[in-house]
Amino acid sequence: MNWTQAIVLAASLVGITVGWTYHYSNVTMNWTQARTWCRANFTDMVAIQNQQENDYLVSVLPQRNSSPYFWIGLTKTHASERWMWLGNNSTWVGSESWAENEPNNNRSSEFCVEMYTSERQNRGKWNDEKCNRLKYATCYKAQCTNTTCDGGRCHETINNVTCLCEPGFVGDRCQTVSVAAAVDCAPVPGPDHGELRCSSVNHTVNSTCHVTCSFGLLTITSTNITCQTNGLWTGPRPACASYKQALLAVAGSGAISTLCCICFCWMQHRKNNLKKKTLPVQCQDE
Ligand SMILES: *[C@@H]1O[C@H](CO)[C@@H](O)[C@H](O)[C@H]1NC(C)=O
Ligand SMILES: *[C@@H]1O[C@H](CO)[C@@H](O)[C@H](O)[C@H]1NC(C)=O
Ligand SMILES: *[C@@H]1O[C@H](CO)[C@@H](O)[C@H](O)[C@H]1NC(C)=O
Ligand SMILES: *[C@@H]1O[C@H](CO)[C@@H](O)[C@H](O)[C@H]1NC(C)=O
Ligand SMILES: *[C@@H]1O[C@H](CO)[C@@H](O)[C@H](O)[C@H]1NC(C)=O
Ligand SMILES: *[C@@H]1O[C@H](CO)[C@@H](O)[C@H](O)[C@H]1NC(C)=O
Ligand SMILES: *[C@@H]1O[C@H](CO)[C@@H](O)[C@H](O)[C@H]1NC(C)=O
Repeated sequence: MNWTQAIVLAASLVGITVGWTYHYSNVTMNWTQARTWCRANFTDMVAIQNQQENDYLVSVLPQRNSSPYFWIGLTKTHASERWMWLGNNSTWVGSESWAENEPNNNRSSEFCVEMYTSERQNRGKWNDEKCNRLKYATCYKAQCTNTTCDGGRCHETINNVTCLCEPGFVGDRCQTVSVAAAVDCAPVPGPDHGELRCSSVNHTVNSTCHVTCSFGLLTITSTNITCQTNGLWTGPRPACASYKQALLAVAGSGAISTLCCICFCWMQHRKNNLKKKTLPVQCQDE
């Protein structure tokens, strides 16, 4: 494999969205310990929801021709209860899942389930067992997190994570606000002494309005405003003013008060010089 191929392969692996993955232990344990081990190292013990998942799980587990086999996340606490999966308490049991003559509840105390991975017709079939027996753990690891999908719900299957977008969101991760959901901006009144020209009658997203002031007047806001995706304009209502007004507006109140203070101090300073410094002065320019 040359470098180009290596880079292409690396990129394609990154691009593939991975769903949940299956894992198993190398040591045997009872059912409770197996679940604890799964939760400590992965997400939880496997919960199977359909035949396809069952087939896939058995395909990734090592073949074994005698006990111990593999614990799966199907259990009950009493003989009269239905079998229930960990996770969402689903009671799915396929028509061909149990091995022949199982579940037999031998000695009325088999409340946990193992999966056979032997070579022949029992491969992938289930058997009820006593929960204190020692078998290998089978676990899954989930890939969906709270941050996987921005504007949608994360849906996970074997080897596939898909973001199911809420209305108004699009993209792999529902990260983009769709055009259909974009909000028009509110109409904006023109300036008092000028004109406003807009690129869209209904002020749709990305449309722009341009202000032109009457002769001799200046714009004291930005000359263009654009309607943003959130339905708000990029700037305030455009306004026009004379040069004098514009200067004052630009100077702002802070600048004006500084100017006044300098002025006042200078006058005080002159007055004090005339009175030969009889009054204390607070200005620093002496
Ligand atoms: C599943 O059932 C158990 C016991 O019946 C209950 O404690 C648990 O909340 C249930 N879980 C869900 C996700 O319904
Ligand atoms: C349990 O979760 C699986 C996977 O998310 C889903 O396919 C199944 O319908 C759920 N079952 C119940 C009873 O909610
Ligand atoms: C029930 O379990 C006993 C002891 O583990 C075993 O000898 C017997 O064959 C089992 N019966 C069935 C029907 O599996
Ligand atoms: C599993 O093993 C643990 C530790 O040895 C023990 O405390 C627990 O009772 C066992 N559980 C079952 C169901 O046998
Ligand atoms: C993943 O699942 C989604 C929805 O179930 C499906 O549309 C998509 O084709 C799947 N992607 C792959 C790579 O299997
Ligand atoms: C607005 O413009 C941005 C950047 O040019 C573009 O990505 C977006 O799709 C546009 N939105 C609409 C609703 O036209
Ligand atoms: C503007 O909005 C009105 C009312 O929603 C609609 O009837 C009209 O077709 C729209 N005009 C344009 C150019 O989209």
